Amino acid sequence: MPYNDEQMATDSVQEIKDKLSIMDVVGAQVKLKRAGKSLQGLCPFHKEKTPSFHVNPDRGSYHCFGCGEGGDIFTFTEKIEGLDFKGALKLLAERAGVTLVYSQPDKNHDKRDRLYAAMSDAEQFFVHGLGEDTPAYAYAQSRGLTKETIEGFSLGFAPDEWRALLDHLSAKGYTVQELLEAGLIKEADGKPGTYYDRFRGRLMFPIKDGAGRTVAFTGRTLPTSAKVGEQEPAKYLNSPETELFKKSAVLFGMHKAKDAIRTRGFVILMEGQMDVLHAHQAGFTNTVALSGTALGDAHIALMKRYAENLMLSLDADKAGLAASAKSAEMAIRMGMRVKAVRMPLGKDPADVISEDPKRFAKMVTDASSAIEFFLAILGAGESSPHRLVLAVEKTVLPLVAAIGSPLEREHFIRKVAERLETVPEAVREAVGRIKSNTPTFPSPQAGNVSIPAERQSQRESLELLLRAVPISYPNTPFAKHVESEYSRIVVPPASQIHDVPERTVIEVGVTFGEDPGIDAADDLIRRFEKLVLNETYQAVLSRLRSAQATGDDEAAREAESTCATLAKQIASLSY
Ligand code: UTP
Ligand code: MN
Repeated sequence: MPYNDEQMATDSVQEIKDKLSIMDVVGAQVKLKRAGKSLQGLCPFHKEKTPSFHVNPDRGSYHCFGCGEGGDIFTFTEKIEGLDFKGALKLLAERAGVTLVYSQPDKNHDKRDRLYAAMSDAEQFFVHGLGEDTPAYAYAQSRGLTKETIEGFSLGFAPDEWRALLDHLSAKGYTVQELLEAGLIKEADGKPGTYYDRFRGRLMFPIKDGAGRTVAFTGRTLPTSAKVGEQEPAKYLNSPETELFKKSAVLFGMHKAKDAIRTRGFVILMEGQMDVLHAHQAGFTNTVALSGTALGDAHIALMKRYAENLMLSLDADKAGLAASAKSAEMAIRMGMRVKAVRMPLGKDPADVISEDPKRFAKMVTDASSAIEFFLAILGAGESSPHRLVLAVEKTVLPLVAAIGSPLEREHFIRKVAERLETVPEAVREAVGRIKSNTPTFPSPQAGNVSIPAERQSQRESLELLLRAVPISYPNTPFAKHVESEYSRIVVPPASQIHDVPERTVIEVGVTFGEDPGIDAADDLIRRFEKLVLNETYQAVLSRLRSAQATGDDEAAREAESTCATLAKQIASLSY
């Protein structure tokens, strides 16, 4: 929905900032520890083991010295929830109990706002159509859905008429062009200029983005809706891709599930909206669904934003199993830990949960890793040992090969070897062949001497920061200490030593506050030193490799001993 005007947004921003502190917002996602005037914790925006993420409660700001992210509660919410500013505004307004005043759509508002408004008005129209005395409502109830679920997910009904929604939204001032772009109406085949509602006579499920804005719909036929003589229509009909709806990046139910996913540390992925409704209704609120699309990288990235562990709970039919294998491989490759729930044959999660939620809970608890899941299933279905080997090679080994951690990979190589009653070496070799065929991630070990871009930028951002200290705190003991440490670690690039962006100077002031102790930056200095030593180490290592390659023994010995010294120094800086 469009916001009343820019002024309203500005007022709301201030009101929200007054009601929600940076600690409320950031503290909900990041474990923070007090460190002098600021608080610090592990940065949620990049992987790290030592905290470089700082929050300044007085200024209501945060900054990460590792990756350079920084800002206020709004930028934090945008980034962590993957929203635009208005999405973050909506989410924080709800949390703060601040009401954003919406206006009627007016022509001057930007197009996306108009589309959001159209989707929201359509949703209300459908919700209104699902009165408790209607056949559609009775159908929803017959599927085991409670009033609370029906209302909580804003289910609705699209009347079985050609132009009910079109007329309703036209009367509200939307143009045909807008409704087409929202995917709510279609142009009649062979009758240009004639339009009709895309969804007719269907139970409607709104699909929402992370901020809870409706971006698409899925409509399910009612059991009676096929008319005599007509072809059976598709059971589920989805909105087309629109400017608001990118199928590959939206998961049904995420809006309601994300908090639970975060607190429980895993996400349950199902196939359909009915599955998700039943899951949430029974308390498995960390559940989302693909709703008719194939799992893609963007879906995985979205889930991974909230948790690293994925519980696949797809249907147990052949298509579901094939989809599980493919999905598991992609998710493992992207660094998720994947388990799979073993569904009884021919049933989907909605069936199981509506029959007996405790049984489903046990299935989730008992779920094994995706690799063991497929080993068990293939093992049960295959009586010929040779065919089992082929099946495992096809389905299971790609999963093993996708694992990033060598130790974990080795663990599963042994499991597979045990199951196939063969030696781990054979499995290892087969896995190795898969790996070399499919270049996935660049391995940080062996042969890769270039410094990862992320590291380099960490180093650069730390370096800038240390150089900003003397500018922010001229002639203080703190600045002198930092300066001398800095020039101990690197030869200062004299020409540009004072060439530090204004922004960084301010950030430094924000972080260390008015009167920092002499050692306030020591953690950062250590981190910086470690990164610099690492770079040197990488360089010497590549020298060692080329010396070995050319057979220059003396150079190799020297490089080797330098590497050893550097490794010791790096280790002594780690804590
Ligand atoms: P299913 O056929 O398993 O549907 O398809 P379901 O969830 O069990 O549906 P009910 O219980 O009969 O109501 C799984 C998912 O695939 C998508 C839907 O998102 C569905 O939930 N689908 C299915 C479609 O997009 N179109 C279809 O025609 C059928
Ligand atoms: Mn199903």
